Amino acid sequence: MSRQQWTEVDAYLEQALVGEDPGLSAALAASAKAGLPEIAVSPTQGKLLHLLALTAGARRILEIGSLGGYSAIWMARALPADGRLISLELSPANAAVARANLHEAGLEKVAEVRTGRAADSLAELVDEGAEPFDLVFIDADKPSIPDYLDWSLKLTKPGSLIIVDNVVRGGKVADPESTDASVLGIRRMHEMVAADPRVSGTAVQTVGAKGYDGFALIRVN
Ligand code: DHB
Ligand code: MG
Repeated sequence: MSRQQWTEVDAYLEQALVGEDPGLSAALAASAKAGLPEIAVSPTQGKLLHLLALTAGARRILEIGSLGGYSAIWMARALPADGRLISLELSPANAAVARANLHEAGLEKVAEVRTGRAADSLAELVDEGAEPFDLVFIDADKPSIPDYLDWSLKLTKPGSLIIVDNVVRGGKVADPESTDASVLGIRRMHEMVAADPRVSGTAVQTVGAKGYDGFALIRVN
């Protein structure tokens, strides 16, 4: 199985199951034009996030790491009219692209992008007494994933779902000798999930147009 085959199958599945979607294509085109790296989730993965949000009946969604807003569009489309998605982004330039893309997709009433260090924005949400989120998608700097999981547990409630992107990293996650800060962050997160009675979690490996990686799915007990 080659990466080329994963990409061909992803293209087939995208065409068969996602189809043409002008809102999403425009967001990707605007992101590329702005020079953002092509590391958003794939279309089939975006639809997975959308379906999970629908299945969870999510009314409040928190995203850590907006990039150009691609995954935010998928998830915000699952919200009811009075729902809310808050997406946190460090880079003001990325945040501007994400805001424009969400606006272009007609989601500006339900989705907002907050700029700054996620750790600061998360602390603010806790201080504000933010209503618990039903779904959290963690897709930001990998060394900080354990911290983002800690914050997510303060901002969710029993039954909430926490999804973490990039938890396999081309297989590097299984290397106990790794000194890569991203791999260490991800391994620590898996260990936290296993040890913490407040959550129950698993992880699935993925292959496709974005290479070999995976998602963690963590339910708050
Ligand atoms: C990287 C980050 C991501 O969130 C992703 O999905 C793929 C790659 C990165 O930082 O390399
Ligand atoms: Mg990612």
